[in-house]
Amino acid sequence: MRMRFHLLLGGLLTGGLAEGMAWAEAPDFQKDILPIFEEKCIRCHGAKRKGGKLDMRTMEALHLGGDTGPALKPGNAKKSLLIELIHYKEMPPKKEGPFVTAAELDLMREWINAMPEKK
Ligand code: HEC
Repeated sequence: MRMRFHLLLGGLLTGGLAEGMAWAEAPDFQKDILPIFEEKCIRCHGAKRKGGKLDMRTMEALHLGGDTGPALKPGNAKKSLLIELIHYKEMPPKKEGPFVTAAELDLMREWINAMPEKK
């Protein structure tokens, strides 16, 4: 009895997880990502200021990027400048904040990795 319960539970957990991953929708820029940028980035990367010449208010501007080049690389979060700078805690600049949480950074990674790669 105990054994059967265990198997059942295991099946539910793995099945549920796999399904969740397969069906989860990719994060949406306007709905999921922009609110984080607005709270934590855009006061320095928007209408008034453009740190490193980077404007983060639109997808076009992010693709265009700033002094260092595009802020993101579609399909490749690891090679995306904005992910790198957040990961190494360069952005937002130290002592500034509010800082990006680990969950928010994961969401941004998912968002970039789900973008079709540009040839
Ligand atoms: C307090 C102001 C401030 C905040 C907040 C801020 N930045 Fe920056 N950012 C800058 C400045 C200034 C630069 C220019 C480089 C430097 O001086 O360090 C920069 C540079 C960058 C660059 C490199 C641009 C380039 O092409 O050289 C990226 C990418 C970036 N920021 C991403 C972010 C992200 C993502 C956030 C939010 C999580 C953020 N920044 C929050 C001020 C800010």
